[in-house]
Amino acid sequence: MERVKIDLGKNSYDILIGKNLLKDLKTLLDGNLEQYFIITDKNVDALYGDYLNMLDDYEKIIIEPGEQSKSIDVMTDVLKQMLEKGATRRSGVVSFGGGVVGDLAGFCSAIYMRGIPFVQIPTTLLAQVDSSVGGKTAINLLHYKNNVGAFHQPAKVIIDTVFLETLPHRELLSGIGEIVKYGIIYDYDFFKYVVENIEQIKERNSDVMIYIIKRCCEIKAEIVSQDEKEEGLRKILNFGHTIGHTLEGMSSFSKYAHGEAVIIGMYYETIMAKRLGIVNDKYAERILGFLSGLGVDLNIDSYPVSGLVDWMLKDKKNVGGKISFILPVEEGKVKELLLEKNEVLKHMSFWDGQHR
Ligand SMILES: NC(=O)c1ccc[n+]([C@@H]2O[C@H](COP(=O)([O-])OP(=O)(O)OC[C@H]3O[C@@H](n4cnc5c(N)ncnc54)[C@H](O)[C@@H]3O)[C@@H](O)[C@H]2O)c1
Ligand SMILES: [Zn+2]
Repeated sequence: MERVKIDLGKNSYDILIGKNLLKDLKTLLDGNLEQYFIITDKNVDALYGDYLNMLDDYEKIIIEPGEQSKSIDVMTDVLKQMLEKGATRRSGVVSFGGGVVGDLAGFCSAIYMRGIPFVQIPTTLLAQVDSSVGGKTAINLLHYKNNVGAFHQPAKVIIDTVFLETLPHRELLSGIGEIVKYGIIYDYDFFKYVVENIEQIKERNSDVMIYIIKRCCEIKAEIVSQDEKEEGLRKILNFGHTIGHTLEGMSSFSKYAHGEAVIIGMYYETIMAKRLGIVNDKYAERILGFLSGLGVDLNIDSYPVSGLVDWMLKDKKNVGGKISFILPVEEGKVKELLLEKNEVLKHMSFWDGQHR
C-alpha cells in the first residue's frame, strides 16, 4: 500500500493507494465515529454496494448518477435523509463514488451541524487523481460550476485501483485529462511519462495506474499544502478549466464528462497562449498534438465565442471584471493571465473556423 500525506497542520490526512484495499474497509475506516453515512450513486451502488456489508453500523444514501446531482435540491434531500436517519456530530460521512458524489457528500459534511468528518473513497480515475484530494467541495447553482461550496478536508482518502476495472472508457479518458494537466502545470517529466505510457494507461495496467495516481496525489499534496484556500499557487490547478467549466455550464452539464471539458479547455487555452506569444511554438505543438490524439472531439464550433466569453465573465476566479486564465509558458510551468473581455475575444478569434 502506498501512502501520501497531505500536510495541513491539524487538518493533515493520509491518502492510501493500492489494489484491493477495500477488503480491509472496516479496519481502514475505524476511528472514533459512531456511525457512517455512506453517500453513493446508483451505478456505484449496483457494482460495489456489497463491499459495505462488512461494516457493522452504517446508513446508505443513494443519489442519481451525473453532474445534475450537484444541485441544491439533491443536497437538501441528502441533508434531510441524514437528519431523519439520525446523523449527529459524532457521525461521519463517507463519499463512495466519483467526483460528483465526492463534491456533494463533502459539501453536505461541511455544512451538516456546522461540519462533521468525512472520508473519501473515490471510484473514478478522475476522483482518484484529483477531486477526492484537497478539500474543495461544492454544488452548482444556476448552471455555474461549483459556485456554492466550502473548503472541508477529508479525514482520509482511500484509493483502490480495483474500481478502475469497470470504468467506461469515456470516464477513463476524462481522468486522463486531469492527469495530463499535472504534468503541464508542475512536472514536465511526468508529462513525458504520461505521453510515453499512454497505451498502458488506457489498458489500466495496475502498476502504471498506481504510479500515476500516487504522483498526481503527491503533486496535488505539494500544491495544496502550500496554498489550501487558492490564494496563489493552487490556481495553477485551474489550467483548462476556464474554458472547460464554461463548456460544461453552457451545455447544461449534459454533454461533457468533466475531464473531457478540461481536455478541450487545455487545448484551446494552449492555442491562446501560443497566440499571445507566451509559449514557444514547439512546446505548444507538443501539448496540442498529444491532446488531439486522446480521442476527445475537440470541435466546439457550435458555441459562439461571444457567448462563451459572456459566460466566462461570471467565473468565480475572475478579478476586477477580468477573466482569469492559467496558461502554459514553458515545460512544466504555467502562469495566470487576467484578460479583458475584448482581449479574450481577440485571442479567440481563431475559434469560429481554423483552430490552429
Ligand atoms: N473537488 C475538486 O477538487 C474537484 C476536482 C476535479 C473535479 N471535480 C468535480 O468532479 C466531478 C466529476 O467527477 P467524475 O469524473 O468522477 O464524474 P462522476 O462522479 O459523474 O462519475 C462518472 C460516471 O462514472 C460512474 N462510476 C463511478 N465509479 C465507477 C466505477 N468504478 N465503475 C463504473 N462506473 C463508475 C458514475 O456513476 C458516473 O456515471 C465534476 O463535478 C467536477 O467538477 C472536483
Ligand atoms: Zn477539474
